[in-house]
Amino acid sequence: MELKEKIQNKRARIAIIGLGYVGLPLAVEFAKAGYPVVGIDLDRAKVDAVNAGRNYIMDVDGQLLRKLVQAGKLAATADYAALRKCDAVHICVPTPFTGTKDPDISYIVSASQGIARHLRKGMLVVLKSTTYPETTTTVVRPILERTGLAAGRDFHLAFSPERIDPGNKLFTTSTTPTVVGGLTPKCGELARLMYHQIIEKIVMVSSPTAAEMTKLLENIFRSVNIALVNELACLCERMDGVDMWEVVDAAATKPYGFMPFYPGPGLGGHCIPIDPYYLAWKAREYDFHTDFIELAAETNEGMPYHVVSKVIEALSDFGIAASKARVLVLGVAFKKDIDDIRSSPAIKVMELLAPKVKALAYNDPYVPSFREHGVAMKSVKLSEKLIRSYDCVLVTTNHSCYDYAAIVRQAKLVVDTRNATKGINSPKIVKIGRK
Ligand SMILES: NC(=O)c1ccc[n+]([C@@H]2O[C@H](COP(=O)([O-])OP(=O)(O)OC[C@H]3O[C@@H](n4cnc5c(N)ncnc54)[C@H](O)[C@@H]3O)[C@@H](O)[C@H]2O)c1
Repeated sequence: MELKEKIQNKRARIAIIGLGYVGLPLAVEFAKAGYPVVGIDLDRAKVDAVNAGRNYIMDVDGQLLRKLVQAGKLAATADYAALRKCDAVHICVPTPFTGTKDPDISYIVSASQGIARHLRKGMLVVLKSTTYPETTTTVVRPILERTGLAAGRDFHLAFSPERIDPGNKLFTTSTTPTVVGGLTPKCGELARLMYHQIIEKIVMVSSPTAAEMTKLLENIFRSVNIALVNELACLCERMDGVDMWEVVDAAATKPYGFMPFYPGPGLGGHCIPIDPYYLAWKAREYDFHTDFIELAAETNEGMPYHVVSKVIEALSDFGIAASKARVLVLGVAFKKDIDDIRSSPAIKVMELLAPKVKALAYNDPYVPSFREHGVAMKSVKLSEKLIRSYDCVLVTTNHSCYDYAAIVRQAKLVVDTRNATKGINSPKIVKIGRK
């Protein structure tokens, strides 16, 4: 039976390589749509969790996952041999950077090598990991073609970037349009058909490279715009009577040609702080310097340092020397209402602040503990007594569950990097983005 027919009658067997923030939700969506799905992950703990019907990603419906596993629709393994029975493979492995901020595509390479061992005629392989343009055609394709099978003739190859926004209740996997670029029109059409079973709107582009570049444009657009507001926020701090938060909200009332971005303590997560560097690296191959990317990175990476200076200055204005101060950090996830701490600016701020103050603790209802760069910390239990015992409360992530009015009442000083205290007037509040 042709793959097209298998997709249409829900008989295509699907493999998802990498069961993390991107792969697990995708696996659940395909299984929910009625396809038999196997997830392949080298992390035994994730494999065991899935097979036990145990969810570990906040955006995934745990009950649904358990039902799908019990119904035999979803299983996980660490063994690539499971691909022998599969028709369509989606690669969702990490794409971090190296210590010198060059792309680390070793996970894509090793996943492609794993697929190559079991590649069959008629298979569809789609790379979903965010990466530099030409990865699908110059990295994945040659590895798969070493088998003697030709991409576009014997098997199908495409790139389709992932747009999932963890914590976003409005736009989920199925309601967020997805972009697809196939190596050939047939590759693109099969990938389109596959994703259309679980995603309402599919946007076709002419090649995998165009799809790779689309994803980077989206993320660089965010990084550059966040840098712009961060720079203006620092300017507002030197001026009298200009509050950057008020300015952004006012500008956002323009019904066209403006989209609001907000200042903050820096970039976080697995995407925005990393992906722009993938393009900057690739551009150098073409003797091209992506100045916007570098400048945005410089501004955004400076923000945690700026926040630390702001805290020290605020403490001093309140008559407390930093070296004698006890600081309580609220929120260490990289953005509100999620549990992901990857590249979290809050953790960078804590690292920078720790040697400068007498005591530092944090609370985050979503992150009970963490170990980063050799430092292990546990979330302290939030109470009025606790808040009163600290000299400064530093809001680094604006989780919705906090009662900010109560926190302001109880704290001696609040340094707010997210405008979490919007609408609360108190001389105790110091915000980035205003004097
Ligand atoms: N997290 C997001 O919000 C998000 C959004 C859009 C795009 N992306 C992109 O999607 C990709 C995956 O990101 P993520 O957040 O899901 O990462 P993740 O770290 O949460 O998950 C990746 C998984 O891949 C597994 N893995 C690594 N190498 C493997 C291999 N060779 N074979 C099998 N499994 C392997 C890891 O054990 C891990 O479970 C990245 O390129 C990222 O940039 C992420």
